[in-house]
Amino acid sequence: MMMAGEERGRGNGNRGLSEGPLPFRIEFLPEIDSTNQELIRRAEQGERSGLALVADFQSKGRGRLGRSWEAGANSSLLVSVLLQLELAPERLGLVPILTGVAMAEAIREISGFQPGLVWPNDLHGAKGKVAGILVESVFQESELKALVIGVGVNLSQGRDDFDPEIRDRASSIYLESGKKILRENLLVKYLDRLGFWLDALGKNRVPEMVDKYSEFDIISGKEIRVRGEKGQISGMALGIDQTGRLRVRSLGKELIFSAGEVIMVRGS
Ligand code: BTN
Repeated sequence: MMMAGEERGRGNGNRGLSEGPLPFRIEFLPEIDSTNQELIRRAEQGERSGLALVADFQSKGRGRLGRSWEAGANSSLLVSVLLQLELAPERLGLVPILTGVAMAEAIREISGFQPGLVWPNDLHGAKGKVAGILVESVFQESELKALVIGVGVNLSQGRDDFDPEIRDRASSIYLESGKKILRENLLVKYLDRLGFWLDALGKNRVPEMVDKYSEFDIISGKEIRVRGEKGQISGMALGIDQTGRLRVRSLGKELIFSAGEVIMVRGS
């Protein structure tokens, strides 16, 4: 497996990237349509694994399930990382999982507030969703060439900074912790933890990863609804399996989901 960590120390020789102590090269952009989209374009042009793109503002930020992701300029950490991993297909579902864990750990360390994970990888606080993750695949001639891992973290927004239609379910690190943290501090800690968990994946330390996920998992043992390709079911979340899939007990049977959206049932 080629991991991002193996890029450390190799010259990058392009686009004025800063070579830090992390196994990633970081590039800052004042404005872009979407950091995910830009990295997909770069990957198609031959960019190498390990590039992290950070934007102050996105004009067409993308969310999961075809939604948009909007954030006022300099209100958020908007970062995407390009990875070329030789991963068995059944391991791919662990990438969003380990990304959620890496960001949850980073937020806890930098702000003191512990976010909760809603499968697969939404990060929530008591007041609403604080961060979202979108993992996209780059294919070339029907072969998986790279993964782009994008994360948007609401840092400094107050309630009125969110659009009225999401105001009652969106939150920020500021709203949860009362602290305005520095974007760069969170970025460095996140990339550090992402590198750690990618290395763990490369070394098959999956049980450790699943254990860490359960430390942040706030749906396990609760009544949820899962909206999947084939409709919606209700049941009790039972945590994730060793490939990152969600286990749900519904009508006495255990169901397994590899994709979908979890809706928390109020009061559970
Ligand atoms: C979600 O819907 O919860 C996922 C949101 C992911 C947003 C981030 S912001 C940085 C990166 N670039 C994008 O266009 N999307 C992701």
